[in-house]
Amino acid sequence: MPTATSPPNFVLRHPTPDELTYIRTLHAACWAGPLTVSQYLSREVHIASTPLTRNGGLAQWVLVDSLSGQVLASCETIRKVAAMSNPPIDGQKVVPVEEVVAHGIGSVFTPPECRGKGYARIMLTLLGERLKYHNGEAAGFSALYSDIGKEFYTKLGWLPHRSSHIDIPVPSVPASPTTNTPHVEPLYHGDIASLCALDIAAVKAKLSTCNPKPRIAFLPDHETIDWHHNREEFIASCVRPTSGVPKVKGAIARDGLRWIMWGRDFNLDDPKLYILRVVNLGDQVGLAADMDAMLRAAVDEAAKWGLKKVCVWNPDQGLVESAKRVAGSEVQVEDREMDSIASLMMYGEAKAGSGVEDVEWVFNEKFGWC
Ligand SMILES: CC(C)(COP(=O)(O)OP(=O)(O)OC[C@H]1O[C@@H](n2cnc3c(N)ncnc32)[C@H](O)[C@@H]1OP(=O)(O)O)[C@@H](O)C(=O)NCCC(=O)NCCS
Repeated sequence: MPTATSPPNFVLRHPTPDELTYIRTLHAACWAGPLTVSQYLSREVHIASTPLTRNGGLAQWVLVDSLSGQVLASCETIRKVAAMSNPPIDGQKVVPVEEVVAHGIGSVFTPPECRGKGYARIMLTLLGERLKYHNGEAAGFSALYSDIGKEFYTKLGWLPHRSSHIDIPVPSVPASPTTNTPHVEPLYHGDIASLCALDIAAVKAKLSTCNPKPRIAFLPDHETIDWHHNREEFIASCVRPTSGVPKVKGAIARDGLRWIMWGRDFNLDDPKLYILRVVNLGDQVGLAADMDAMLRAAVDEAAKWGLKKVCVWNPDQGLVESAKRVAGSEVQVEDREMDSIASLMMYGEAKAGSGVEDVEWVFNEKFGWC
C-alpha cells in the first residue's frame, strides 16, 4: 500500500525483463567494478541462479510511475534463513531458538536523472512493509549494508549495528614454504556443506543461551557461502582468466574444530581477501595458535592472488590479537561510518526495536552481506 507520502500512481512491483536490463545497465556504473557492462549483466544472471537465489530466493523490485511507466528507483532482496531468540522468562536456563525468514536488501538505486526527489525513500518505505510478508512467508527481519552512511536508512527504520573490521596487510611476495604453518589445511568447495551444518548447530546453541536482549543472526548456511563463492568465481573468470578457478575457500585447523572461510574481491582499487566466517567449536587450548595459523594461511592465499589485504568484519579481541601477531601491531579495528553499515529492521507481532539497545545482531560477519 502506498504511504501518505507516496503518490497513488507510484507502484512497487517486480520489473519486466526489459526494465531489469535497463536498471542493471545503469547501475553497472556503480557496481560493475573491474567487469565490463556485458560481463556485469552476465554476472547478475549467473548469481541469480545459485541455490540461494533461484526459485524466488532473489526478488527484483522497481518503483514505477504507473501513469508514465517510468522506473523511478530499484533494488533487490535475497531471502535468507536466520535465527532469533529472546531473553529468558520464568527462570529458563535455555531459551527457544526460532528459525525465521529474513531478507537481505541490496543494489538500492535511483537513475541519476531521478535522484533527490524522494524516490528511493518511497520505494524503501513500501518495501520495508512489503517484506514483512512476502511470497506467503512472514519475515523476522530485513537487513541491508549501507554504502551511504547511517542517516538515510536510519530515518527509514533500518538501524545501524556494529560495523567494524580489521585489514591485515599482505606482503607483496608470498611467504616461502618454510614459513608456512603446519597447523592448518586448506578448505575446498566439497568441504563447505558439512562444515556449515556443524556451524549452524553451534550458532543455534549459542542463541539458546540466556541473554538480556533478544538476539538475531543470519545462519551461515551452505547456500549463502556458495553464493559468495559463485560470485567470486564468476568475477575471477572475467578478470583473471588465466589464473583458473579460485579453489581454496578457507583454512581449517587439523583437529577440525576451528576454521575460516573466505572469498576474494578483485576490485581494482582495493583488491582483498575477505573472511566470510570465523568458527571456533573448540575450547581455549590451542585457540591462539590455530587462529594465527589460519590467518597466515589467509595472508598467503591473498598474496598468491595479488590481493593487498585480508579483511575481517567485527573481529573479537582474540582475533585482533592474532592479526597483530601475524602482521604487526599496526593492525587496528576500524569502525566504519560510511561503507557496508550493517542495518537492521525487525518485524514480527511482538516487534522488538531494531537498534543496538534493543536487539543484539550476533555472528554479524561478512557472509551476511549481499
Ligand atoms: C542513494 C540513492 C539510491 C538515493 O536515491 P534518491 O532517490 O536520490 O534518494 P531520495 O531522494 O529518496 O533521498 C535523497 C537522500 O539520499 C541520501 N543520499 C543520496 N546519496 C547519498 C550519498 N552518496 N551519501 C549519503 N547520503 C546520500 C541523502 O540523505 C539524501 O538526502 P537529502 O535529500 O537530505 O539530501 C541514489 O543516490 C543512488 O542510486 N546512488 C548510487 C547507488 C548507491 O549508492 N546506492 C546506495 C547503496 S547503499
